[in-house]
Amino acid sequence: MSEPSSRLFGRRKGRPLHVRKSALVRELLPTLQIDPAATPDPRALFAVPPVEVWLEIGFGGGEHLAAQAARHPDIGFVGCEPFLNGVASLLDHIDREQLANIRIFPDDARVLLDAMPDHALDRCFVLFADPWPKKRHAERRFIGRANLDRLARTLKSGAELRLATDVAPLAAWMREQVAAHPAFVCIGDGPTPPPDWVATRYEQKGLAAGRQPVYLGYRRV
Ligand SMILES: C[S@@+](CC[C@H](N)C(=O)[O-])C[C@H]1O[C@@H](n2cnc3c(N)ncnc32)[C@H](O)[C@@H]1O
Repeated sequence: MSEPSSRLFGRRKGRPLHVRKSALVRELLPTLQIDPAATPDPRALFAVPPVEVWLEIGFGGGEHLAAQAARHPDIGFVGCEPFLNGVASLLDHIDREQLANIRIFPDDARVLLDAMPDHALDRCFVLFADPWPKKRHAERRFIGRANLDRLARTLKSGAELRLATDVAPLAAWMREQVAAHPAFVCIGDGPTPPPDWVATRYEQKGLAAGRQPVYLGYRRV
């Protein structure tokens, strides 16, 4: 598959990693890291074939992904995050909580999606994505026609696409973009999270600052 034509926006590195996290990146990451060219089918990434595969795009520090994986040991979780410090935080959760059902693509989710077979995923989370609030940067927002086409191809019929944000222009943009795509129907939109919700770091920061999140759910038809 060819590389996505648009480049990745956002940082790949932050503060230097502490010794423990550096060691996890050096030693644990290679055992969990996905090579999209080698294993396109995500089910084959796990020692025991999982009942479902759930993808989180832009997992940040991995709090949500780790908590979901701990709750659902029979589901295989795939996380994409190009920010190395976030990957290191997820590795810390995996190591401390001994989570066996997470695999990581430490890069642009579009590359992984393009390598996956059709209908490989049962659920996808894109939570508190980078908002790119300026109009001229709208094309950088993850939810847009090109990535919805990628998700429409890789999600199974009946699979859930779960989105959330506390940035009003991004919520409006995402509603508009998904409503215009024929492969998705809305199953939830409002200030109340779904019953099985797990808090994310950005969500908590926003709540502490007085911002109200919006939770959006869609079903792949
Ligand atoms: C605002 S943070 C939110 C992190 C987390 N979901 C949370 O709620 O705490 C958005 C994350 O998306 C990641 N991201 C941006 N573009 C991405 C892409 N194309 N593929 C995977 N992750 C991406 C960024 O690196 C960043 O960590």
